[in-house]
Amino acid sequence: MSDRAGELRKFLAVAIEAAREGGAIVRAGFDQPKQVSYKGDVDLVTETDKKSEAAIVARLRREFPEHGIVAEEGGGGEGANARYCWYVDPLDGTTNFAHGFPMFAVSIGLLERGKPIVGAVLNPVSGELFSAQEGAGAYLNEKRIKVSEVSSISKALLATGFPTHKRTSNPNIRYYWEFTLRSHGVRRAGSAALDLCSVASGRFDGFWEFGLKSWDTAAGMLIVQEAGGKISNFAGEPYQPGDKEILASNGLIHEEMRRTAQEIASAPALNPVT
Ligand code: IPD
Ligand code: CA
Ligand code: CA
Repeated sequence: MSDRAGELRKFLAVAIEAAREGGAIVRAGFDQPKQVSYKGDVDLVTETDKKSEAAIVARLRREFPEHGIVAEEGGGGEGANARYCWYVDPLDGTTNFAHGFPMFAVSIGLLERGKPIVGAVLNPVSGELFSAQEGAGAYLNEKRIKVSEVSSISKALLATGFPTHKRTSNPNIRYYWEFTLRSHGVRRAGSAALDLCSVASGRFDGFWEFGLKSWDTAAGMLIVQEAGGKISNFAGEPYQPGDKEILASNGLIHEEMRRTAQEIASAPALNPVT
């Protein structure tokens, strides 16, 4: 094994251990009464988000004191300018968690100068662990995964999500409408990290969303790419974590989804029901 592959393997092993530590906290919190507070609008946060983050950040800091850490609840501090920076979502799908709907994850991605090199996404209820390291494929637990072979939107199952901030200024309901009518359906499962992993494992054929943050996508984007999928913005340029929109697909329907998105963007209003 090359030094580089060995180094990435070490990073991935720590990412997985940290995801399991955070996941154990989230799993235990799921069975307890939940104290929900609001960061804004419908942006929920619980004590479990914070406890999971504290455990993950402590672990990463202990292993890699020179790395940057950016974590959703603010526990990571600075460091996005470091060569290596971890992006941590300690509980992706807090709304589901708070309502007892078992669709949420811990997501941990490592970027090297802005490029994803390691990712781990764990659903602590199902026990499904999605992982990838640059150049070594993507896995669901021990099994290698790849994207689907569906080649048109009309035969595709798609996914999207809606933001928890500034909901009324988000255009996504129009995209949801159009893509629903043109496909087998659009799921809104409530965890962007798991949505990306579902594209990687062929459960979904495509996914898009506006306004996701780096901690939502850093791990999942690598998992999609390593599973043979494609990620871009709606202009078709390479997606960078934190970009204002993301389009992820099996690659085969990417261009069709992109053209459809552009069509929707330039349409004046919702189509009337006929
Ligand atoms: C949310 C989930 C959801 C997406 C939202 C995110 P959170 O993350 O990923 O699927 O639609 O945009 O904010 O707040 O539960 O970590
Ligand atoms: Ca999130
Ligand atoms: Ca979160």
